[in-house]
Amino acid sequence: MSHSIFITGIAGFIGFHTALALKKLGMNVYGCDNFNDYYDVSLKRLREQKLLDANIPVFAYDISDTKSIKALLEDNKTSHVIHLAAQAGVRYSLENPMSYIDTNVKGFTNLLETIKDIPGIKLIYASSSSVYGLNKKVPFSEKDRTDSPASLYAATKKMKELLAHTYHNLYQIPMLGLRFFTVYGPFGRPDMAYFHFAKAIDAQKTIDVYQNGLLMRDFTYIDDIVNGIVASIDTPFSYEICNLGNKKKESVNTLVSLVEKHLGKKAKINFAPFQKGDVIQTFADIEKAQNLLGFNPKTSLDKGISKFISWYQEYKNQV
Ligand SMILES: NC(=O)c1ccc[n+]([C@@H]2O[C@H](COP(=O)([O-])OP(=O)(O)OC[C@H]3O[C@@H](n4cnc5c(N)ncnc54)[C@H](O)[C@@H]3O)[C@@H](O)[C@H]2O)c1
Repeated sequence: MSHSIFITGIAGFIGFHTALALKKLGMNVYGCDNFNDYYDVSLKRLREQKLLDANIPVFAYDISDTKSIKALLEDNKTSHVIHLAAQAGVRYSLENPMSYIDTNVKGFTNLLETIKDIPGIKLIYASSSSVYGLNKKVPFSEKDRTDSPASLYAATKKMKELLAHTYHNLYQIPMLGLRFFTVYGPFGRPDMAYFHFAKAIDAQKTIDVYQNGLLMRDFTYIDDIVNGIVASIDTPFSYEICNLGNKKKESVNTLVSLVEKHLGKKAKINFAPFQKGDVIQTFADIEKAQNLLGFNPKTSLDKGISKFISWYQEYKNQV
């Protein structure tokens, strides 16, 4: 079925891949991004160029620009909004807390205020595994409590879920929150460990590895995440929250070994203490996503890092 889909954060890592996949399926796709400099803007511009080459319009709007976004949504007879724009990153939330409130709380509320006046739009929005915070029970299930965030980033992601529920209750907007688990892959985010490790190991620089490399993450390859988002477009929902993870936890030490293996270079490692705001592990129970979306992640960390490193070798002079 043909849909008209507006993506916020379209020049971001997940937005970029999602837009290309939906366009390939013949949908009308367009989006906005404020091109902030949280990480290298040239990577966002590179993604933007590829989107424009694929005839996907990109508007340099902030999500709080309610007037411009309302006009876009109405003009395009939008059926779905995929809201991915956010201030991401756990560690940066200690340095610049207000940017998380501005985009993840105020910006999201502005977007909800815009959408509520346009009947018929379905909203799919990015939440995060970080909402499980300090929970000890794994794998993390949507039925588990999410009231012990470990960082301001996590708290704002939880706030998004609460705001989504509120606007669903008040205005019956169909809402699907997707809790992504450590997404990685080509055109990824330079602030994330796998990308940072690749750059540093390639340049023979020392990397900091926290907690002896024993932190565990459920690393999820971008194509698997995109398949989950694409499946959500034709899935009927009223109000749902769903994990999207790989259902496998791996240590940061394993991640480092795989980056070394595919780069063909040895890491210089400085083991550093546990970082404030971090969590010991993430690990997704994906039964709900399997049932609701037919979600079935297929990419092992070995395969995914191999694809990322191939991309990195091709683009390292541009990013
Ligand atoms: N990548 C992951 O591992 C991961 C894990 C869990 C959740 N998420 C969530 O998924 C979403 C997408 O993440 P990503 O990895 O693609 O991050 P990203 O930073 O690459 O993409 C976000 C994009 O949003 C844009 N943006 C930020 N604030 C904006 C604003 N106020 N108005 C308009 N645009 C704005 C940024 O310029 C950026 O291009 C985010 O909500 C993030 O919190 C990501």
